[in-house]
Amino acid sequence: MPVVSGSSEQNVANSLSKIMKMEYIKLEDRKFPDGEGYVRVPGEEIDKIRSEPVILVSNTYPDSNILKTILLLKAIGDVRKGDLSNLKGEEPQKLADVGKGIILAIPYYGYSRQDKRFSKGEVVSARVIANIMSNYCDGMVILDLHEKKVMDGLDFPIIFVSSMAEIADKLEKEVSPDFILSPDKGAISRATKVANLIGCEFSYLEKKRIDAHTIEHTPKDLDVSNKIVAIVDDMISTGGTICRASDALRRQGALEVHAACTHGLFTGGAISKLANHVDGVHSTDSLSNPRGLVSCAPALSRGVKQLLEMF
Ligand code: R5P
Repeated sequence: MPVVSGSSEQNVANSLSKIMKMEYIKLEDRKFPDGEGYVRVPGEEIDKIRSEPVILVSNTYPDSNILKTILLLKAIGDVRKGDLSNLKGEEPQKLADVGKGIILAIPYYGYSRQDKRFSKGEVVSARVIANIMSNYCDGMVILDLHEKKVMDGLDFPIIFVSSMAEIADKLEKEVSPDFILSPDKGAISRATKVANLIGCEFSYLEKKRIDAHTIEHTPKDLDVSNKIVAIVDDMISTGGTICRASDALRRQGALEVHAACTHGLFTGGAISKLANHVDGVHSTDSLSNPRGLVSCAPALSRGVKQLLEMF
């Protein structure tokens, strides 16, 4: 069974194929001079794409990857349907339909934070993207989605997986935290899982977002004096949430503060900013980044196995 991807998800797809003892196939994707994308299933891989179910690893971030994912899914779908008709007259132009069997594994689901209509006139972007993708594949595996509820009621197989076990393992080996902190209520379940796996204390902060760059935490007494604390979140973007939480921990006497997340977006110089506030930053490789040393492939493989059992 092949695991396939375009260029940006090659590493994750390769790791996933090794874990699942499957073959990795790189699909063609490049940009035209005007920035538009081009994708193709290489002619020599067509038989393999048709032989068994296919797992496409593709992010929906940044925006250009949303379109790339749709185009790759459609290219795979056409090949599996046997629609190979082409202007060059390359043979065969038509083959039998081999049926369903396209799984989309999404390491980082872009737009996941627009999961509600916060103001009238807005669109629930996360849901729109799921609706589009569901037209082109037979099931999805999504890693550490910001809020699963956004997919409620979708008549489509989606398996949610998490890298928190691998993050807990990394923190335990390299940081030995005494205390895990969730920087807001949204990350409580993930951070609790990490605390339980490591067997250490846990608490959370109440966060109010003023704008994309400004957040406020409600002051809270935390028993962190002389303790090593790891703040665990689903994603780090500007780093504002982590920096503010770390400042609160330092004021209360924390000995060391580390940050861990599944999705390291690290926008606008976040890594340098974080270096002034925390002792270490740990992330998975769901997005390519310099701190992405925890593989997200084991979590994706758990979801793919679960989904395959449903087919
Ligand atoms: C929001 O609820 C998320 O879980 C993260 O806490 C947030 O997106 C992090 O963003 P930033 O790094 O910009 O504060």
